[in-house]
Amino acid sequence: MVRKKGSLILCGAFLFVAWNALLLLYLWGRPPIGRLGEGVGAEPGGKEEWGVDRGKGVPVNLAAEVIRLAEEVEIQLETQKELLKQIESHRAVWARQKDVGKRETEDTKEVKQEVVHQPLKPPLSRKDSEDERDQTQVKNTQKPVYTVASDAKLEQHQAIDIKEDIGEGNKLPTSVASPEVVIPILVIACDRVTVKRSLERLIQYRPSPALYPIIVTQDCGHAETARVIASYGDQVTHISQPDLSDIRVRPEHRKFQGYYKIARHYHWALNQVFNTFSQSTVVIVEDDLEVAPDFFEYFRALYPILRADPSLWCASAWNDNGRDALVDPSKAGLLYRTDFFPGLGWMLLKEMWDELEPKWPSAFWDDWMRQPEQRKDRSCIRPEISRTITFGRKGVSLGQFFDQYLRYIKLNTEFVPFTKQDLSYLLKEKYDENFIKEIYSAPLVKFEDLQQGGSLRGPGPYRVQYSTRDSFKVFARNLGVMDDLKSGVPRTGYRGIVNFLYRGRRVFLAPQEGWTQYNVSWS
Ligand SMILES: *[C@@H]1O[C@H](CO)[C@@H](O)[C@H](O)[C@H]1NC(C)=O
Repeated sequence: MVRKKGSLILCGAFLFVAWNALLLLYLWGRPPIGRLGEGVGAEPGGKEEWGVDRGKGVPVNLAAEVIRLAEEVEIQLETQKELLKQIESHRAVWARQKDVGKRETEDTKEVKQEVVHQPLKPPLSRKDSEDERDQTQVKNTQKPVYTVASDAKLEQHQAIDIKEDIGEGNKLPTSVASPEVVIPILVIACDRVTVKRSLERLIQYRPSPALYPIIVTQDCGHAETARVIASYGDQVTHISQPDLSDIRVRPEHRKFQGYYKIARHYHWALNQVFNTFSQSTVVIVEDDLEVAPDFFEYFRALYPILRADPSLWCASAWNDNGRDALVDPSKAGLLYRTDFFPGLGWMLLKEMWDELEPKWPSAFWDDWMRQPEQRKDRSCIRPEISRTITFGRKGVSLGQFFDQYLRYIKLNTEFVPFTKQDLSYLLKEKYDENFIKEIYSAPLVKFEDLQQGGSLRGPGPYRVQYSTRDSFKVFARNLGVMDDLKSGVPRTGYRGIVNFLYRGRRVFLAPQEGWTQYNVSWS
């Protein structure tokens, strides 16, 4: 099948070349070079075929002009031949993508070598052009990424090329060899020079610039921030959102202008990552986030989990209830599923962006993500102890209370070798069964019993039950966890359950057993 299709393409290309040559010669009022037609329908690829055309059929008494012309045609043909070879090699790669691991003939191996050394579109080159400075920076960073990227990665990019070139509906393999996948870090920046603090940590903990290219995307055109970013030279790729115009909003939303600009910026920047840079995934970090030492390790380990489980749509480094007193410092390696989209350092796959991009909202993108129409009952992975903390927000921001609350989130300091661990317990089927069992086998207590002076003496875990929006809020507030709900989902909640430490004991704030769905009207 594949071979046949490849031959067809080649024949078509060959016809095209032959026709062009004939036309050219005809226009010069000379008899056409003989035997060109013989190539049509023959198995292409023989080098001699082209050589034959060069000399034999041409009349002896040629003017110098025609010789020059013939030479030009020859050069043209050489170029065309190179193109054909590329098509041929693409076909080979494509064939390999189709039946993974199957025999690699000498022929295709040769082609592969050739492809690797050809100047195909590098992973971090850009199609569109902006100002010169950006271009140079992109160039600087793209090089190491391209040269160090694994074969698997290169093939993946080629697969994308093929898809574009021949317009076939073939899909990329969804389980790419995960240990070597490139995971770009997208840093969202605007007018805060403190982006420096984010970048310092990212660069400090980054195990490999090739596997984790840092793309700093800047909105707002703030010169001083741009200088800070530029000072990192080729350690980061600096791109700038080109449209700095105000966004037309309805009068009562004028004060939310900033949220509109953020949504526009995310939209543009994610399109850059996935469409211009052709990446297969991304980790999004904002300019006020500081990352933990195992930040990169965390996402690399979760990438295959995210790929494998369609009921997951993100992995986040953030625990909304990650304050010091609420987390178990001895459980740095503990991970959870959550129905609440946490954001704040999160991984997204290209397939998910393809789904969200066409309907991306004009403002408040994070709460939009939390709506049932977008979430579609999918969950994220989050850690017991945050792998990001936020160091102060201003301007477009959440309230003062939230600010002060966020300040106390504990940042993990212990490096957990997640990639060496079996994280399959996070896959839905396994997880749900164990999680439900664990939660509902914990003794049900009144929350007053947990408070100081209460009657409980055991180490826990304990379960506190809520049944209404108001009872959830009262308990949450009294136990010290976030009490807000978005589209009915409490922060960190999984199947309605919020899991945290209270005075050193594990507590599950949970709905009645047999929970089936969130009540979207709870907010
Ligand atoms: C959802 O919550 C509202 C307000 O708390 C309540 O009136 C309504 O009955 C709930 N709906 C369901 C299906 O439980």
